Amino acid sequence: MRFSERISDLVHSPIGAAHALVGLRTNDRQLLDLSQAAPSFPPSDAVMRRIAEVACEPDAGRYPPQPGLPELRRVFAQDLAEGYEAEIKPDSVLITAGCNQAFCVVASSLTSPGDEAILVAPFYFNHDMWLKIEGVTVRYLQPEADLVPDPERAQSLITEKTKLITLVTPGNPTGVTIPPDIIHGFADLAARNDVALIVDETYRSFRDESGSAHQLFNNDDWASDVISLHSFSKDFAIPGYRCGAAVGGQPAITEALKVLDCIAISAPRIGQEAALAGLRHAQEWRVNQAARVKDLERQFLGAMETEPGGFKVVSSGAYFGWVQHPHIDLPTEDVVRKLVLDHDVLTIPGTAFTSDDDAMLRLSFANLEPEEISELPHRLSEFA
Ligand SMILES: Cc1ncc(COP(=O)(O)O)c(C=O)c1O
Repeated sequence: MRFSERISDLVHSPIGAAHALVGLRTNDRQLLDLSQAAPSFPPSDAVMRRIAEVACEPDAGRYPPQPGLPELRRVFAQDLAEGYEAEIKPDSVLITAGCNQAFCVVASSLTSPGDEAILVAPFYFNHDMWLKIEGVTVRYLQPEADLVPDPERAQSLITEKTKLITLVTPGNPTGVTIPPDIIHGFADLAARNDVALIVDETYRSFRDESGSAHQLFNNDDWASDVISLHSFSKDFAIPGYRCGAAVGGQPAITEALKVLDCIAISAPRIGQEAALAGLRHAQEWRVNQAARVKDLERQFLGAMETEPGGFKVVSSGAYFGWVQHPHIDLPTEDVVRKLVLDHDVLTIPGTAFTSDDDAMLRLSFANLEPEEISELPHRLSEFA
């Protein structure tokens, strides 16, 4: 058979590559897995109880309503309305099988092959991969020195073919939170140029700042151009139940739903019930776990303070440390390989998030237990 060149030549899975490296290990020492961003803790009791209960309900296996369970859309709209101090209607919420799927259905509903999209570098690799699968040309907006992008600089990347700009805040892989005024600057830019602004807010609960992440839902000028994406994976530690959401104006939801219809029909009921139980019964738990991740970050920064082995944290936040390695004579992929095979530390190479090799690594410290973070500097120091 002959595969699509867009997939075989342009798209490579960094998580797949990381897992393949683990398969080559011969060491017995426990692996410090800082690769995929995944909660290291189980969901709250309330969420687990509800999952078990739903599994025994007679309609558990039925197709749920396509845009999502009405009660989940209602309760999540209310949760967002409180979080953003804005009016958000249940109809504005499309429930998907995770935030990745939310991005895919939204991006597909906006683009045709040959169109262009803007991602901020370093970008989230699944966004880049999906756009390439769709035959969209990606233009990369380089951020400023503080890793925050400048909307004015984005203007020069916009052409007649540009259909969307995507921001990720807090960022994956940098952890950097984009300040509200910058997000608003991008919304103005999007409105001026008639392109969509997609804001992936998977890590919203893990910001340093409390209060509203932006005012995008409060301004009618932006309502038709902005789509905000959400994930329940990290907030309620249910990544395997696959539940997320796209929030936007009615036309955006209607078009994205057509794509969802083809690829998933609807998000799985059990994941939706898990998210709903989280929203209803695990709000305090959600705040406590975000604080726990913040503690892990503090511990990670403490462990990395002396730049063990010459590895230096450039930025951090949410689940991630964005770390520069000192081995500029080696391709970063080789550094990652050596870290796994010789030092039992699994990371994702920065080249998964950038077009050039800038000697960077992503370390998902939130995957680890505190004692594993204490061990990290010793392993990094071993790297000669
Ligand atoms: C920026 C970003 N968006 C989306 C996702 C995927 O989230 P979900 O598990 O809800 O599909 C991730 C997960 O790592 C992410 O980092």
